[in-house]
Amino acid sequence: MNMAKPKVIIETYGCQMNVADSELIQGILHEAGMEAATSLQEADVILLNTCAIREKAEARILGRLTNMLPYKRRKPSLKIGVVGCMAKHLGDEIIRRAPYVNFVVGPDNYRRLPEIIQETTTESQVLTNFIRDEFYDGITPRRPRGLCAWITIQRGCNYVCSYCIVPFVRGAERNIPAHEIIHEAKTLAEQGFSVITLLGQTVNSYRYEDWDFCKLLKAIAAIDAIEQIRFTSPHPLGFSDELIELIATEKKLAKFVHLPLQSASDAVLERMRRGYSFAQFKEIVQKLRALQADIAVSTDIIVGFSGESEEDYELTKKALIDLRFEFAFLFAYSERSLSIAARKFPDDVLPEVKQRRLAEIIQIQQNISKEAFNRWVGRAVPVLIEGFSTRDKNMAIGNTREFKTTIFPRENYNVGDWVEVQIEAATSLTLTGRATKRLKAAKFALEAEEAIDLGISLGPSPNDDEPEED
Ligand code: SAH
Ligand code: SF4
Ligand code: F3S
Repeated sequence: MNMAKPKVIIETYGCQMNVADSELIQGILHEAGMEAATSLQEADVILLNTCAIREKAEARILGRLTNMLPYKRRKPSLKIGVVGCMAKHLGDEIIRRAPYVNFVVGPDNYRRLPEIIQETTTESQVLTNFIRDEFYDGITPRRPRGLCAWITIQRGCNYVCSYCIVPFVRGAERNIPAHEIIHEAKTLAEQGFSVITLLGQTVNSYRYEDWDFCKLLKAIAAIDAIEQIRFTSPHPLGFSDELIELIATEKKLAKFVHLPLQSASDAVLERMRRGYSFAQFKEIVQKLRALQADIAVSTDIIVGFSGESEEDYELTKKALIDLRFEFAFLFAYSERSLSIAARKFPDDVLPEVKQRRLAEIIQIQQNISKEAFNRWVGRAVPVLIEGFSTRDKNMAIGNTREFKTTIFPRENYNVGDWVEVQIEAATSLTLTGRATKRLKAAKFALEAEEAIDLGISLGPSPNDDEPEED
C-alpha cells in the first residue's frame, strides 16, 4: 500500500445517519492526508459502513464482504475495514467469519481510523467501545458538492423500543451543541448548500442547555441563504403542538414529516415500548393535516412483532387505510440479539405469517401512495431543483415543499432555482411535468457538472437500505 497517501473507498449501508457518518469519516481521513478512491480496484482501503437494524441488512453486508476477497487476492496490501452499527454488534464475530477483514471499528471510534489504517500489524483489530461524550466536534465532514447537506444533531438513542438494536450499537443520546450546529449550517449555506436535513434517531428530543428542537429549527430558518429545512426521524413522543405549528407556519420547513407508527395496536405498541397509544399518534397526524392541508406524512411499520395477533395486525392494516400515509416503509419483524425483545418476548409469529401480512400491506400502501401522488396531477407547484438526472442530463430533478420528487425538462433552469411546475403525471414515487416559470433564482451558480448526480435525494428519505422488501 502506498502508506504516504492511501486511497480509501467507503460503501455505505443503512440509514441517513450512516450516510452522514461516511461523510464524517471522509473528513477524518482527509485531514490525515488520505484520498478518496473512485473505484474498488483503485482503493488501498475499503471501508464498509454497516447497518444492524434487521438480520437481512447484516446478511447482505456479510455477503458483500465475501465479494471483497478477490480484490484482496489481487492486491494483498489492500486493507478491508468494517465500521458502523454491524461492527459494534458483531465485533470479533466478523473476523471469525471473514478473517481477511483487517479491522472492525464502531460508531464512536472513527477518530482512530487513520492510525488503524496506517498500522503495519497483520493482526486484525477490533475497536468498538462506546465513548459517552464523543460527538466528533472539530471535524468537518466531506460532503459531495450540491444543494443538500445532512447535519447530524444527535447521536445515539435514549429510547428503549424493545425490538430495536440501535441503542445497543449507537449508545446513549448525545446532542451536538446548538452553536456548533448553527455554525455548521451557516458555513454550509455560504458554500451553497441551501437544503439542510437535520438527523437524529429521535430528532425532536433534541436538548442542549436552554435549546430545544423548535428553537434550533427557528435559528436555522433565520439563516438567509437556507431555502429549506428537513429533519428525520422525529418520535411521536414529544411531537409538541409548538412543533406542529412551526411546521405549518415556517416557510422554510418542508411540509413533510416522517413519523414512525410501527403498529396501530395498543397492546403491540406497549410491548414495543413505544410510549404512545394509537389514538395519540392519530391526533398528531390530524393536527398536522388540520394546519397544513397538503402536508405529506410518511411512516414506518413493523408486522409480525412478538405476540402480534391477527386482530392486532388488522388494526395496523386499517390504520394504513384510514390515515393514508403518502409513503410507508414496511418491515417484517426481525429479532435482534441484545434488544429487549430478544430477551423477553419470543419471536413467535411464523415467518410465513409475517410475509403474508407484509405482502398485503405493501400492496395496500402502494395503491394509497399512487393515489396520494395522483392528487397532484393538474396542479402547478413550486419545486426546488436539486440536480439533473444522470440518465438524461436534460431532465431536472427537484422536490416540492411536500418532499415529492418531481422530474421535468431542464430547459434553462439551474440547480437551486425554485420553479413552478405544472404536474402532468404521477407514479407512487414521483411526479412529472413541465416547468412554467422561475419563481426564484438560485443564489449560487453550481456548475452543471458538479450538480449532476450530487446531493440529490430521490423520494422520501429511506430509513433503511431495503425499504418495503424484507
Ligand atoms: N429512530 C427511528 C427509527 C430508526 S430504525 C424511530 O424511532 O422512529 C428505522 C425503522 O426500522 C424503525 O422505525 C422500524 O420500523 C424498523 N425496525 C427497527 N428495528 C426493527 C426490527 N428489529 N425488525 C424490523 N424492523 C425494525
Ligand atoms: Fe431509538 Fe426506538 Fe428509534 Fe430504535 S426505534 S432508534 S430505540 S427510538
Ligand atoms: Fe445503524 Fe441506521 Fe442501521 S443507526 S443499525 S445504520 S438503520
